[in-house]
Amino acid sequence: MIEEPCTYVIFGATGNLSRLKLMPALYHLEVAGRLPEGTMILATGRRAWDRDKWISEVKDMLFAKVRDGLNENVFERFKQRLHYFEGNLAEPKMYPAMREFMNNDAVFPQKVAFYMSIRPADFGTVVQNLGDVGLLDEEHGWRRVIVEKPFGYDLESARALHQRLSRYLREDQIYRIDHYLGKGTVQNVLVFRFANVMLEPLWNRNYIDHVQITHSETLGVGSRADYYDGAGAMRDMIQSHLLQLLTLVAMEPPASMEAEALRDEKVKVLKSIRPIPPNAVHAQTFRAQYTAGVTGGQKVKGYLQEDKVPKDSVAETYAAMKVFIDNWRWAGVPFYLRTGKRLAEAQSMISICFKHPPQQFFRASHIQRMRPNWVLLGIQPKECLKAEMTVKEPGLEMNTRPTSLDASFRKEDDVSKEAYEELLLDVIKGDRSLFLRYDEVEYAWRVVDPVLRVWAMERDYIPTYTAGSWGPHESLRLFEREGQRWRHSLNIEADEG
Ligand code: BG6
Repeated sequence: MIEEPCTYVIFGATGNLSRLKLMPALYHLEVAGRLPEGTMILATGRRAWDRDKWISEVKDMLFAKVRDGLNENVFERFKQRLHYFEGNLAEPKMYPAMREFMNNDAVFPQKVAFYMSIRPADFGTVVQNLGDVGLLDEEHGWRRVIVEKPFGYDLESARALHQRLSRYLREDQIYRIDHYLGKGTVQNVLVFRFANVMLEPLWNRNYIDHVQITHSETLGVGSRADYYDGAGAMRDMIQSHLLQLLTLVAMEPPASMEAEALRDEKVKVLKSIRPIPPNAVHAQTFRAQYTAGVTGGQKVKGYLQEDKVPKDSVAETYAAMKVFIDNWRWAGVPFYLRTGKRLAEAQSMISICFKHPPQQFFRASHIQRMRPNWVLLGIQPKECLKAEMTVKEPGLEMNTRPTSLDASFRKEDDVSKEAYEELLLDVIKGDRSLFLRYDEVEYAWRVVDPVLRVWAMERDYIPTYTAGSWGPHESLRLFEREGQRWRHSLNIEADEG
């Protein structure tokens, strides 16, 4: 399908997200020939730049980020699309001026996507101002607004933001982005489950012991402390990305792959998560903060020594949570979600641990248990699918050992892509299946809100872990049984080590 041209307006175009993700993604869509002819990209920013200056800035951004080096021919095409509008979001007079600027329909297509790459606190005001000057009217073409996470700070503020946006936008004009849904393996969870029959009969409480969803990073908070310190790992990763992964692992087959059908099923999962009462918060969750340590051979600071972090901060840089989905398929199966900064490795994966066979024929004693089967979905850095089984060791003795059936998703000539490329294209296509509907956001807040409320009362102490470790050992208390532990690696040997 050839999409029609549109104008992509980027608020906050000179900021980090735009530099690191959005402009490179748009450029890669240009490389792939996927930006419709006539599509324009209008950056807005406070700096007093003209178009030429902006083009040269974009070139610098791209040099640092694009795959296979910047292609001058492609950039020549790309730069024809780049425009800059100087203005201060906080000043209402910016918006009529912007409307005038964009009114030139010989240059700017009147189908317009507004990307809010700005502080969440400004989402409401910007939308209101756009609405007030008529920039959200759809008389001459669709108007869509892309909202970055976090959508609210808790349930109450998410509702307030939703109400504010709803005064100016219909739900189908709002694209709430969760860039995790643009990642290849994340979409592969659905393909893996619903395009194959082998595992689906086993995908339930009868065969699955528990599920672990991990996102670990070696990086620290970097320059983002002003945002991160107020958010913490639970809001930053679990409320959004990890709960989204959980919905994909746990959902029922949707009636179709259409946006609404998919989102209906995801919401059902979130609604079925058993609320964590205040007195269970300690048993079901764990939070901690990194102290100085070593990662990748480099000494690194502790969180409290990072730039702009208050010296008495108790923001969690590590969060783990156990939840139960009270429905027919999953009753009694724990789902463990875990994320942290400055951990031993950067790894995102979903690990499904199957139950033990009912009898232990191939082990001398019951104490020495056989390894369960695992299915592992590697999200990053390696996109792969692994299934671990037990086999007999070659030789005269009846000894067993685990082996891994290993499928990497990527063939040599597959083109890799960044999550934002697909998502930016989906906005142009009007495909909302990889964006969050408001009720998903609301129910995700309902899952984490009770935990955050208890944590907010405990302002004088937070456990710590050394940067470069796998996090605090005490987090193992979340597990149901003795001997269960976090799965850190896609690799059997490393995991056993
Ligand atoms: C962002 C979080 O949404 O996701 C960051 O705000 C986190 O703190 C990032 O580092 C992880 O995404 P990715 O794509 O880099 O794994």
